[in-house]
Amino acid sequence: MANPTQIAIIGAGIFVRSQYIPRLSEISDLVAVKAIWSRTEESARGAVEIARKYFPQVECKWGEKGFHDLILDDSIPAVAVVLAAQAQVDMSLKLLKTGKHVLQEKPAAACKFATSEIEIAISTYNSICANLSDQPIWALAENYRFEPAFIEGKKLLADIGDMMSVQVIAEGSINSSNPYFSSAWRRNFTGGFLLDTGVHFVAGLRMLVGCEVLSVSAMTSHVDRTLPPPDIISSNFQLENGCSGVFAMVVSSKSPKIFWRVVGLKGTLHVERGNQDGRHGYLVSLYGDDGLSKSTFYSFNGVTEELKTFIHDVSQATLKKGNGYEAEPRCSFVEGARDVAVIEAMLESGMNHGALVHVKRF
Ligand SMILES: *[C@@H]1O[C@H](CO)[C@@H](O)[C@H](O)[C@H]1NC(C)=O
Ligand SMILES: *[C@@H]1O[C@H](CO)[C@@H](O)[C@H](O)[C@H]1NC(C)=O
Repeated sequence: MANPTQIAIIGAGIFVRSQYIPRLSEISDLVAVKAIWSRTEESARGAVEIARKYFPQVECKWGEKGFHDLILDDSIPAVAVVLAAQAQVDMSLKLLKTGKHVLQEKPAAACKFATSEIEIAISTYNSICANLSDQPIWALAENYRFEPAFIEGKKLLADIGDMMSVQVIAEGSINSSNPYFSSAWRRNFTGGFLLDTGVHFVAGLRMLVGCEVLSVSAMTSHVDRTLPPPDIISSNFQLENGCSGVFAMVVSSKSPKIFWRVVGLKGTLHVERGNQDGRHGYLVSLYGDDGLSKSTFYSFNGVTEELKTFIHDVSQATLKKGNGYEAEPRCSFVEGARDVAVIEAMLESGMNHGALVHVKRF
């Protein structure tokens, strides 16, 4: 058995403490957290204390000096970047330049013109790759592309025949009891919460239908004054395969409900968030001529699966040095860019009273 791949985590916030550390601990045969870095010592220490239970060797790094140490540490081939979304692209590029493989948390970018930032970032990454003999992997963490419910749901799509209509209903539950409610960065640009959670719902949609969203026409509004504007999107969209659909999202509802529904000539596929026997996940149902023909519940597992895949890619890339190892396409940064582009197009359309907006292609 090979030694676990050593990684560092950049960031020490809620998501690192509540998701990264526990999920990585479940695959500690594959991966070891060698260091956790944060801007401040206090924050880095808080996360390191949690991680030490599973990774006794974990080092605490902070500030410029700590960052420099990380870059110079050749025993760390890969880094997870889990910061405020506005800061992630710059940080990822900084690390990629040094040859480290990077797993960046979603959303791919977050600012008023996120897709312009992404375009520049992708061209910077391409020139970094052109200058290095071993290409660093730039992965984007989007657990929906690894959720068993969406992988299995997609397989059932063949059974529903020609696609006629798609609905994505996403009534979320970001209220004051949610740990992300008071997050500063999500309140620092237009549509912060819509983008941060909306990219997941778009990822689920793109995954199920297996094609891109071409254009959108959306109305946006702001009703819940405890949230930054806008907090509601009602959008029409058109897919590349000609099928149209609706995407309705509410950031905070008293009665959360989240589903994707694809109606075809021969049947309907319905994927809905829920829980069974105390486990959270998705119920995937297929309806045909005789009503419900199949229904399976899949627990959440996407974060673990995406981490496993990234670690596998890093170890393969290390083994095959210079031999053009192809990383898993579902992890690629460009996939995350496509999710952001759809939400950005909806926000732009909303600002223009529903004008048709073509989604930027990556
Ligand atoms: C927030 O939403 C959750 C889940 O829907 C609910 O259980 C909780 O009571 C809500 N809290 C507030 C303050 O509304
Ligand atoms: C808010 O955005 C501004 C401008 O992009 C940036 O300088 C500032 O650091 C951001 N603050 C937070 C808390 O993200």
